[in-house]
Amino acid sequence: MKKIVIEKPGSYDQLTVKEFPNPLPAKGEILIETRACGVNFADCCVRMGVYSSAKEYVGWPITPGFEVTGIVTQVGEGATRFSKGQRALAVTRFGGYTTHLIVPEEQVLPLPDSLTFEEGAAFPAVFLTAHYALFELAHAKPRDTVLVHSAAGDVGSALVQLAKLAGCRVIGVVGSTHKIESLKNLGIDAIIDKSRQDLWKEAEKLSPDGYDIILDANGIETLRYSYQHLRAGGKLVVYGFHTLFSKGRGTPSWFKIAWDYIRMPRFNPLFMTNANHSVLAFNLSYLFDRKDLLRNGLQQILGWIEEKKVLLPSITTYALDDVASAHRALESGQTFGKLVLLTSR
Ligand SMILES: NC(=O)c1ccc[n+]([C@@H]2O[C@H](COP(=O)([O-])OP(=O)(O)OC[C@H]3O[C@@H](n4cnc5c(N)ncnc54)[C@H](OP(=O)(O)O)[C@@H]3O)[C@@H](O)[C@H]2O)c1
Repeated sequence: MKKIVIEKPGSYDQLTVKEFPNPLPAKGEILIETRACGVNFADCCVRMGVYSSAKEYVGWPITPGFEVTGIVTQVGEGATRFSKGQRALAVTRFGGYTTHLIVPEEQVLPLPDSLTFEEGAAFPAVFLTAHYALFELAHAKPRDTVLVHSAAGDVGSALVQLAKLAGCRVIGVVGSTHKIESLKNLGIDAIIDKSRQDLWKEAEKLSPDGYDIILDANGIETLRYSYQHLRAGGKLVVYGFHTLFSKGRGTPSWFKIAWDYIRMPRFNPLFMTNANHSVLAFNLSYLFDRKDLLRNGLQQILGWIEEKKVLLPSITTYALDDVASAHRALESGQTFGKLVLLTSR
């Protein structure tokens, strides 16, 4: 087998391909010979050494990757739900950039015949993130007005679709004009192009009373204003901090991170109470022990995909060995749709 190994934090040159003997599944585990693995922004954070759960659960060296598809080739003792030769989809807390993945069977679902391996690896992390944010935390409901930052991003476009499915009025923000087109067929109600328009003036025009839900992974750049643009009873959901990183730099600027940390808004519970504003935050990589949440979320999303209630993202594929190009593209901030690694030899 081969996998991508990062020996120490750094830039794209830290993504090295290494050969290992094939692993054997232990009790309750399954061995998947993988075909595809999704690439997420979090994988870039892992490579740069700024992803805390990666340091907590794995340390160095590390193989990133949260979602794979492939064929079950071995089943460990006591694992009863899968048999050899079955097409499978799995979520994993790291380790997905590999040709052979061992995973506990509760983290595996059958891959429906209607989906290709690439499609199956393109949606779990981003749709689970959107699902958890909107339904477990924000309790999105019909006629809520929702503002989605980075709406053309992977999580962003999943948020747009799931919020529309919940009957919300959805306004999306994009950072470049070329991303607008990709959002139009997702049923979005309005788009703010912050490269040409004043984001907050437009946001106020589109919803003068404020927003019921704002979903923000920008961090320092927008958090304070997102909070201020909630209506009474509104919820700000924080799920990332990508403006901490300079686009395309490959390594973090510790000075910028420290400076942004100091300027990060602190929300005061006294003022939050009287304003009726809530701030909710999460990181799915710390929720892997809540297997019920992951499985139920994934099953519901798969159902919607099969019923064609949500569209899969457009997919750009890279060979496993070319993972550095995928990271470079993702960190440019210019991609839309999902980047997927093809892992079979
Ligand atoms: N909490 C969780 O469990 C969880 C799970 C998955 C993802 N996330 C987070 O969600 C965010 C989006 O992830 P994604 O997979 O959707 O990524 P993505 O598809 O690459 O989208 C990221 C978008 O963010 C914007 N952006 C702003 N500053 C950026 C920067 N410095 N570098 C790169 N992009 C920048 C860009 O859009 P605009 O310029 O149009 O705004 C870019 O298209 C990330 O912060 C990620 O860590 C969190």
